[in-house]
Amino acid sequence: MKRSISGIQPSGILHLGNYFGAMKQFIDNQAHYEGFYFVADYHSLTSLTDPKTLRENSYNIVLDYLALGLDPKKSTIFLQSEVPEHTELTWLLSNITPVGLLERGHSYKDKTSKGFSANTGLLTYPVLMAADILMYDADIVPVGKDQKQHLEMARDIAIKFNQQYNVELFRLPEPQILENLAVVPGTDGQKMSKSYGNTINMFASKKELKKQVMSIVTDSTPLEEPKDPNNNIVKLYELFATKEEIQEMKDKFIAGNYGYGHAKNELLNAILEYFKEARERREELVNNMDLVHSILEEGSKKARAIAIEKIKAAKVAVGLAGNIYK
Ligand code: ADP
Ligand code: TRP
Repeated sequence: MKRSISGIQPSGILHLGNYFGAMKQFIDNQAHYEGFYFVADYHSLTSLTDPKTLRENSYNIVLDYLALGLDPKKSTIFLQSEVPEHTELTWLLSNITPVGLLERGHSYKDKTSKGFSANTGLLTYPVLMAADILMYDADIVPVGKDQKQHLEMARDIAIKFNQQYNVELFRLPEPQILENLAVVPGTDGQKMSKSYGNTINMFASKKELKKQVMSIVTDSTPLEEPKDPNNNIVKLYELFATKEEIQEMKDKFIAGNYGYGHAKNELLNAILEYFKEARERREELVNNMDLVHSILEEGSKKARAIAIEKIKAAKVAVGLAGNIYK
């Protein structure tokens, strides 16, 4: 069975963009791939410096994974930092990764251009990500479009290592990006992102969720008048509704006498309906953290067994001649 591998950084509460851009693919992939899905907590250290927040966010992502349908019987679910071989492989890969490649990283350039004073981790972030992927011989990596360049870097790094040491140690991964869902818009119409404060969080309380949906920015066309059917509300509604339902909403906007408030209510109900079971499951899991911990323990054991073998092979390839390799 081919392998699908991906991770999400625990840098905040998950939103519709994370779900439709990345996580939904993890869940859908379970039918056809062996899955490895982790919480990229080492990666978060590049920007998150509060230990309590990091810990809470990490468990929240695991709860989200499980509630949304990742099945520990089909997928290996773990915290990246519970498999320390990821950082060990990062070091081996760092030595064949040109600094220039990393300096061209969009995400690095974006952050530094916004005045973020960059730490070394931020620059070498893609090498750790390459290690995450190459460690498990990933065939595909489901991610949102903004991660495409990181995937290309992982491929470049794999090719370089294999060539440098004349081995076929690392498989070249393919990104899995859903082009039609590439960017989920936020409440202000920009890309939904926790850093823009424009998110809709599927696991927020009903009250909070309503507040977020009601904050979707619209123009001030009066109620009676026809409105642009390609507005923000419709774009989000498209994620949840059937073709007919979407057309119906569009027709109502075109006809007039249909306010943005009405549409927002329909969207809110659609979101609540879509995530009904997941929201219920999450409530149950919060009250059963022992189960969550045991799933993680099992997951890291499984992942680690593979990682240890890969690291051994990588060390042999580069000439690190420890006694255990005799
Ligand atoms: P954020 O922008 O909120 O910080 P992350 O960068 O942590 O989100 O993204 C986690 C995953 O979710 C990535 O695979 C990313 O591509 C995907 N993703 C995030 N926001 C969106 C969006 N608005 N539309 C589609 N995919 C998204
Ligand atoms: N960089 C990814 C993001 O911000 C998270 C990530 C870390 C990842 N390691 C990965 C994604 C390996 C896929 C595979 O979304």
